[in-house]
Amino acid sequence: MNFQFTEEQLAVQAAAREFAKTELLPGVIERDEHQKFPAEQVAKLGELGFMGMMVDPKYGGSGMDAVSYVLAMEEISKIDASTSVCMSVNNSLVCWGLETYGNEEQKQKYLTEIASGKAIGAFLLSEPEAGSDATSQRTTAIDMGDHYLVNGIKNWITNGSSATYYLVITQTDIEKGHRGINALIIPKNTPGVIVGAKENKMGIRGSDTHSIMFQDVKVPKSDRIGEDGFGFKFAMKTLAGGRIGIAAQALGIASGAYELALKYSKERKAFGKEIQHHQAIAFKLADMATAIEGARLLCLKAAWLKDDHQEYEQAAAMAKLYASEIAQWVTNEAVQIHGGYGYVKEFHVERLMRDAKITQIYEGTSEVQKIVISRNVLKA
Ligand code: CAA
Repeated sequence: MNFQFTEEQLAVQAAAREFAKTELLPGVIERDEHQKFPAEQVAKLGELGFMGMMVDPKYGGSGMDAVSYVLAMEEISKIDASTSVCMSVNNSLVCWGLETYGNEEQKQKYLTEIASGKAIGAFLLSEPEAGSDATSQRTTAIDMGDHYLVNGIKNWITNGSSATYYLVITQTDIEKGHRGINALIIPKNTPGVIVGAKENKMGIRGSDTHSIMFQDVKVPKSDRIGEDGFGFKFAMKTLAGGRIGIAAQALGIASGAYELALKYSKERKAFGKEIQHHQAIAFKLADMATAIEGARLLCLKAAWLKDDHQEYEQAAAMAKLYASEIAQWVTNEAVQIHGGYGYVKEFHVERLMRDAKITQIYEGTSEVQKIVISRNVLKA
């Protein structure tokens, strides 16, 4: 087994690390405080090829592998998880979904713009009463012959106001249950699309999370992804890859907090020596480093399976479950190591602790990951 990264993968990691330090770190506290979407920073990420990392260059992407994507997501998330969630949704859900299941016309029309970073995409699945229970879609897309008429409301939409294009999961035939669900591409500027108020969140406050309303929105049938009724499978397949992105985000949040705690432990003195020399702190750092390494290996394994065209749904769910759980714990420990300083904004760890929580909730709660994993484990 080879744990060595390639030259290209190391270059991507280094570029993402540099970008995070020079472009994201300045202003990250203010963006969090004022809930400011990192528009300029995301545009620059697009220019660098980070918004369509795994997309074929002929559709405006960078043609990189999923391992590089994990490395980049970790580095960006160490500093700014609000930026990395935008990047993750764009790469994993929108670009991958369109490239894998969209037709040639859709790829030319939408994917090229989104993968090259000229436009942002969003993935609209969650509803007021359909979060974990994703088959219970209430947003309807009534078949009108040559088009669908869409009505309903979507909640908790990442990139809700900054996106130009939405991938929307809708119910066409309720009698058919999940087989009556369709995925539609709906440009935000389509008449009848209304962007609701921004959510005032605990963490990832720079990310723009909105509810989106659809009132008699006409969507041509040519903007449906796949065959009639393919929407639920489309969502499940897409989310499996998305979970690798969020796992890497959780990993980055944890490793960012750990690096800050390690640095602080070498600077701060108590009882006559640097606190790193107190076993109470050294053992915490040892446990944190071990958990992070475990999460990293799970993320990379899932990405490697995806790159190798093997089944990765279970590995992605395991990576997301574990990385998000340890991100909670590691960020909490990082605050503890910082003592009172950890509780104030200037030291960054309190933000990372708040940001970590969402990784246990979006793209499937920890409980949803356990459903996915246990089903796979039980059928083995
Ligand atoms: N690939 C292909 N097909 C799949 C699949 C997969 N990975 N998972 C399920 N399916 C199929 C099943 O085979 C079944 O089809 P058949 O009846 O033809 O066999 C069908 O889909 C229904 O599957 P289930 O019976 O397993 O569905 P379920 O109702 O029990 O739900 C679930 C399973 C895993 C809980 C699913 O609903 C789920 O993943 N929920 C969480 C949704 C989620 O992650 N939401 C996140 C929103 S996006 C987001 O958060 C983005 C952001 O902002 C960051």
